[in-house]
Amino acid sequence: MPRIGIVTERPGETRVASSPQTVGKLRGLGYDVVVEAGAGAQSSFPDDAYVAAGAEIVDRVTAFGADIVLKVAAPTSDEIALLRSGAVLIGLLSPALSPDLLAALAERGVTALAMDAVPRISRAQSMDVLSSMANIAGYRAVVEAANEFGRFFTGQVTAAGKVPPAKVLVAGAGVAGLAAIGAASSLGAIVRATDPRPEVADQVASIGGTYLEVVVPDEQKEVSSDGYAKATSAAYDAAAAKLYSDQAADVDIIITTALIPGRAAPRLITAADVAEMKPGSVIVDMAAGQGGNVEGSVAGERTVTDNGVIILGYTDLAGRLPQQASQLYGTNLVNLLALLTPGKDGQFVLDHDDVVQRAVTVTQDGAVTWPPPPVQVSAAPTAAPVAAAAEPTPKKTMSRGAKSGLIIAGIAVLFLVCAIAPAPLPQHFLVLTLSVVIGFYVIGKVAHALHTPLMSITNAISGIIIVGAMTQIIVPDPLVQVLAAIAVLLASINIFGGFAVTRRMLAMFQKGEQK
Ligand code: NAI
Repeated sequence: MPRIGIVTERPGETRVASSPQTVGKLRGLGYDVVVEAGAGAQSSFPDDAYVAAGAEIVDRVTAFGADIVLKVAAPTSDEIALLRSGAVLIGLLSPALSPDLLAALAERGVTALAMDAVPRISRAQSMDVLSSMANIAGYRAVVEAANEFGRFFTGQVTAAGKVPPAKVLVAGAGVAGLAAIGAASSLGAIVRATDPRPEVADQVASIGGTYLEVVVPDEQKEVSSDGYAKATSAAYDAAAAKLYSDQAADVDIIITTALIPGRAAPRLITAADVAEMKPGSVIVDMAAGQGGNVEGSVAGERTVTDNGVIILGYTDLAGRLPQQASQLYGTNLVNLLALLTPGKDGQFVLDHDDVVQRAVTVTQDGAVTWPPPPVQVSAAPTAAPVAAAAEPTPKKTMSRGAKSGLIIAGIAVLFLVCAIAPAPLPQHFLVLTLSVVIGFYVIGKVAHALHTPLMSITNAISGIIIVGAMTQIIVPDPLVQVLAAIAVLLASINIFGGFAVTRRMLAMFQKGEQK
């Protein structure tokens, strides 16, 4: 059976590519799993737990000699030398920044898959490690800030006096930013956030933040077509600079997460802004590793300015929650391997016609296959081309004549039924027709967000139908009895189905141990 090897990472990397739980899932895909002794120690996963999950504990050379080697950090040259020719390596390889690494892996005959090259499309969300790590990092950024900050996040009224809540500004509301907003607001802080993509305003509000809009003329607004921001315009930058200066003087904590793929991090907070902040304020520059959003931040370091502002430029925020990060990273890997093992039989199949598989493959058959062809993704509404906006495509609507014809035909049928059907059928038919027309227009205008309460109303209507059908089921006419029985059945399905769906939705919001 093909073997998967889990190896110990280089010093400084606290994560491991698989938890005991994900080892079980890898075995479920038909693979044997070997784990280098001590590989999970820094993530609090002892060797015993891996053995209990069905893995074998082996030495370093054996783990690196597996058919498929799972890693977190990119391999060093010593580690590449331990890989077998023809083996598969999966890890965070930063392919755009590491041409030498790709060349070395290709020369070694290794098929390398870069987890950080998973495209940001809905189908690949379960494998998107950048998102799962940014989520953890955003949360941890708030924990680090809270650790440095000398006050509560939440406001309190105590016998010893009133404590105001901390004010937090989050710059950039992508994955990390949203996690930071959620964590800070759940600690009780007043949270504000800004981002050039106006479509994030609702997301910010939904997790307790206030969206601060940088006001620029409409034609200079940013609209993302791929889930990532584009470079901002000069008008935007000028308006944003004013917003940051105003906010820096007011807030206690700033967390910056601004990123534009393929570019150095945009500079958002200047030294002058930092100088305006109160002593004891904290800045976490999550983009410090990409050049920094904050003037004066140093990658990997904690610095304190002359006016007593603490700037954290840590680049290992996800690794500071190693157990959680390894668990989510391992799950992302399992999801990728499930895609690459369609038969769940341990047979690894790489299909280049699949955009996700093509995008992550960076070396194969001795050749570098990076970069992949561009992927069309649609994480956000695509901007309509200007020409198309000026001349909108005509909507397909029914012609006036056809509409009038349909209405006349409908009225004729109604009259016909009323004229020939015996009483009380015409009245019932009239009520049914009116209900259908009114129901169609009322329900058609209900916003999607209100479909759940709407479901409760349809449950109530189904209740009325059941009562009505039960009164009819005793009528000594087989046709009426059958119709009444069908009405009871359908209405019951609606009621019980409604309760089941509501229960599932409520369970999603319940705190407590996840089953
Ligand atoms: P993302 O792409 O989901 O979000 C970046 C956000 O920045 C987007 O919403 C974008 O619209 C926004 N943005 C772009 N230009 C901006 C500007 N001028 N002003 C304000 N916002 C702007 O990225 P993600 O995954 O949330 O990562 C955010 C940052 O955190 C990245 O720099 C990433 O490398 C970093 N990161 C740092 C870690 C650490 O340990 N320090 C760990 C994980 C991620």
